[in-house]
Amino acid sequence: MKGIILHGGHGTRLRPLTHTGPKQLLPIANKPMSQYCLESLVDAGISDIAIIIGGIGSNKVQEYYGTGENFGAKITYVNQDHPRGIAHAIRLCKEFIGNDKFVVFLGDNILKKSIVEYVSKFKQTDATASILLCEVNNPTQFGIADVKNGIITKIMEKPKNPPTNLAVTGIYLLTPTIFGIIDRLKPSWRNEYEITDALQMLLQEGHKIIYNMVTDYWKDTGTPQDIIHANEVILRSTEPYFHGIKEDNVSTMGNIMVGEGTIIKNNSKIIGPVIIGKGCVIDAASIGPNISIGDNSKLSKCSIENSIIMSGCNIDGDFKIKNSIIAFNSEITMTDNTDSKIFLLGEGTKISL
Ligand code: DAU
Repeated sequence: MKGIILHGGHGTRLRPLTHTGPKQLLPIANKPMSQYCLESLVDAGISDIAIIIGGIGSNKVQEYYGTGENFGAKITYVNQDHPRGIAHAIRLCKEFIGNDKFVVFLGDNILKKSIVEYVSKFKQTDATASILLCEVNNPTQFGIADVKNGIITKIMEKPKNPPTNLAVTGIYLLTPTIFGIIDRLKPSWRNEYEITDALQMLLQEGHKIIYNMVTDYWKDTGTPQDIIHANEVILRSTEPYFHGIKEDNVSTMGNIMVGEGTIIKNNSKIIGPVIIGKGCVIDAASIGPNISIGDNSKLSKCSIENSIIMSGCNIDGDFKIKNSIIAFNSEITMTDNTDSKIFLLGEGTKISL
């Protein structure tokens, strides 16, 4: 089987974080979210993988994943000129797929459980497609499946009156039959070639679509809150390690991962789950719970919880940060006794004081 990861789109809902790169490269527990998709495919024995790129910072995707060699994969990059829809992106891979069955993974979907079982079931079935369904509280935001007596009867995109709360997750197991269907699709109301419309057409034309329920954690990371939540869940299930240096008067508790060359200085407090990358300095700061800190960041005197601080950041001052995402190489400093603040902010920046 082959794999396709969707790494295109504009990530508009995550601006300003996506002004300089694709959302799928935003880190969760210090790893780009799309790397979880890649590792999931490789783990299921799928190493021949196409990555759909397009939009801002596509070169960063190629720089990060390269040939795929470092990740146990062979990667083919497929360029999508404009985000014309998930089905459109899949259609671009027709030649790459040939006659194989394949798995499509949306690069912004985080699935905690391995896909091994779904893949081996799909290898053996005569069904034309297999999807993973997950119960959600907000079914108007997703593709939704109507299921009667264990059989999918209808699939629709973001319905106003959802018949069920069974979201179609962004992991699709498909056969090349889908390409002929996509060729006959019309763009939707949002002017996209929808994968849900293609699946619905498969059903209407008498093809069998099987499904599995995801009962473990799945998240479509559409908003900053979704990313912070996924970060927490992944951190909780990561094995602890400590490769840094800890001075004497430091208190630590819970699940903690600390990279090489990181120094945790006196009077700091680390409350897991927390991951701190390589070469960081934590100086008299309170970190956690639910924190990821990228490589080479320096945090002094501050108190941070439930947040993602990417690499190369400098945060210095006696103040508290929570529920935040602070992108690469940002600096926040506050000297004592100042009531005026100095800002140099990029387009779309959000600040709550
Ligand atoms: O996450 C699951 C949901 O994903 C499904 O329930 C929906 O049925 C499905 O349409 C999709 O909904 P979204 O509105 O969340 O899709 P989004 O536009 O965010 O795109 C999903 C991913 O695919 C994202 O990583 C960007 C990428 N993409 C998207 C489009 C439209 C591309 O690479 N190319 C594209 O043309």
